Amino acid sequence: MKILVLNGPNINMLGVREPEVYGAGTYSDLCEKIKAHCEKKDIGVSFFQSNHEGALVDEIQKALGVYDGIVINPAAYTHTSVAILDALKAVKIPAVEVHISDVSKREDFRRISYVRSYCFKTISGKGFDGYLEAVDALCGALL
Ligand code: DQA
Repeated sequence: MKILVLNGPNINMLGVREPEVYGAGTYSDLCEKIKAHCEKKDIGVSFFQSNHEGALVDEIQKALGVYDGIVINPAAYTHTSVAILDALKAVKIPAVEVHISDVSKREDFRRISYVRSYCFKTISGKGFDGYLEAVDALCGALL
C-alpha cells in the first residue's frame, strides 16, 4: 500500500507560522512523524507540499495508478478550490481531509470545504496527530 500526503500553501511555514494555532513543529517534523508511523505499519509514503493550486492539481493527477490513498490538507485552498476537488474526483483515489487546527471553531469562511464532499473522512483540530489518524483511516478502508 502506498499513500501520498499532500499539503497546500503555507504548510511549509509550520513552526514559524502562527504557532499558537498550528504548534511549534516544522513541516519537516510533520513529515518525519508521518514517515515513522507509516514505517511501523509497513506502508509506503510520499510527500508533496506546494503554495500553488495548479501544482497540487498536477500532483493529484500524477497519483493515478501510483498511490492507493491520499491524505490531503489543502490549507487555504480547502475553502476556495473547485479545481482540487475536481482532480480528486477525476482520479477517484480514496482520500482523507486533514486540518491541523479546528476549522469549525475559527472564522466562518473556514467552515466551507470543497474537498470534503469527496473525502470519505475529515479530521480537524488534532494537530499533527490528525495526519496519523488519516493514515489509519486509509488503512482501515483499503486493507
Ligand atoms: C488549515 C486550516 C486552513 O483554514 C488554513 O488556511 C491553513 C491550514 C489547517 O491545517 O488547520 O492554511 O488547513
